[in-house]
Amino acid sequence: MHTLAILSIISAVSGYHLKPHTHIRRGNSSSTCFPFNSATFNNSTTVPDMSRSDWWCSAEQTYGFLGFSYPIENDCDGEPYSLIESDFASMKEDFGASLARAYLPGCYTDDIWERLIKAGIEHDMGVVFQVAWPLNGDPDSWWKKIQTSILDTLANSSYADIAPYVVHSIEFGTEPIGDTDGGSYEAFEGYLSDFKEAAKQYGIPIGISEDWDRPGTMSSDDGSSLGPVGEKIANLSDVVHAHVMPYYHDDLTEADSWNYIKNQVTWLKANIDLPVLISETQWAWAYNDGHAGGHVTGPDSCDCGEDQYTNYWQNFDDNCEFFKENQVGWFLHAWQQEGTFDMKKDDGSYAIPNWKPRRC
Ligand SMILES: *[C@@H]1O[C@H](CO)[C@@H](O)[C@H](O)[C@H]1NC(C)=O
Ligand SMILES: *[C@@H]1O[C@H](CO)[C@@H](O)[C@H](O)[C@H]1NC(C)=O
Ligand SMILES: *[C@@H]1O[C@H](CO)[C@@H](O)[C@H](O)[C@H]1NC(C)=O
Ligand SMILES: *[C@@H]1O[C@H](CO)[C@@H](O)[C@H](O)[C@H]1NC(C)=O
Ligand SMILES: *[C@@H]1O[C@H](CO)[C@@H](O)[C@H](O)[C@H]1NC(C)=O
Repeated sequence: MHTLAILSIISAVSGYHLKPHTHIRRGNSSSTCFPFNSATFNNSTTVPDMSRSDWWCSAEQTYGFLGFSYPIENDCDGEPYSLIESDFASMKEDFGASLARAYLPGCYTDDIWERLIKAGIEHDMGVVFQVAWPLNGDPDSWWKKIQTSILDTLANSSYADIAPYVVHSIEFGTEPIGDTDGGSYEAFEGYLSDFKEAAKQYGIPIGISEDWDRPGTMSSDDGSSLGPVGEKIANLSDVVHAHVMPYYHDDLTEADSWNYIKNQVTWLKANIDLPVLISETQWAWAYNDGHAGGHVTGPDSCDCGEDQYTNYWQNFDDNCEFFKENQVGWFLHAWQQEGTFDMKKDDGSYAIPNWKPRRC
């Protein structure tokens, strides 16, 4: 409560999350809005005849299943347009996805962002951009090249004018606090602040993709409220892209996972006065080498399997009304490239066949 009161005073005084360029409208329920309703680009780069904020559906409408994390961990050329385009078509047609979240983009030129925008236009899907600190062995400092390529795409590419209508939001880092990206929390906060300043003319909401269940930093020592770093990050954010990860917390079984997710959503809503999305959450359909978790019971075993995977995601779908009530949307992690978290298996089949999450 204390934190909430402080946050609302700060917002009343500074209007920090109500600036017109970053404000995510609350309360508009336009039946034509993008990307959940009938608004369409008509497969054209012609800029919609309205403001960015009138084009996008409101934060209230951004609940339930949004789409997939879309890993781009290979080199840029590994993701030709034809592949991105057919993946977007499958995500939309087979699962009802409205957004795609770029995950760990390991490429440093405008091309990947232009291809994602192009596929978003073609399939009327929004995209989430990500400035990533490389985890593929490339030098850490190359996050700046990713930042440069995103800013250049927004400023100079042939998609520059339409980009704010396709790019839903930008994640500045994925678990940057957990990984101490930038070298220190203070340095990272400075980089985030600079990026926001450089991108603010585009009106695209910016936040970090991070787990807030980090006592002592993101949350308070006893976990009940915001922690010192969390408070600063919330202050610098337009939107929360939360990692809600029972798979990695407290050695939980899959059967315990929903309770954890529900409590985290309630915590996020109580402690942060910003639109909230779950950008990353996962369970595995078999032991996940390199991403061990899910109540590990031995060197290569866990409470993982097809039943657990299906049940994990079915819980999200069964609780669509809970997400609607809390105005929280979620992404399924991941489409491909993440081992046994993947919905689309290497043989092309789906880990959960014939399943389309509800829109309640
Ligand atoms: C969009 O237009 C391109 C040509 O500009 C065409 O190749 C493609 O099939 C169209 N996509 C859809 C979904 O109609
Ligand atoms: C797409 O076409 C429809 C019907 O002509 C039109 O109402 C709509 O404004 C077009 N979309 C854009 C983004 O221009
Ligand atoms: C919602 O947005 C639409 C489209 O721009 C606009 O016509 C309408 O007046 C808005 N409604 C509210 C309640 O703000
Ligand atoms: C846009 O291109 C110009 C000319 O190449 C360059 O100087 C500028 O830095 C670019 N802007 C961004 C934001 O990358
Ligand atoms: C949040 O931002 C406001 C306005 O810039 C500032 O006055 C305040 O001290 C900040 N709070 C924290 C915890 O950083």
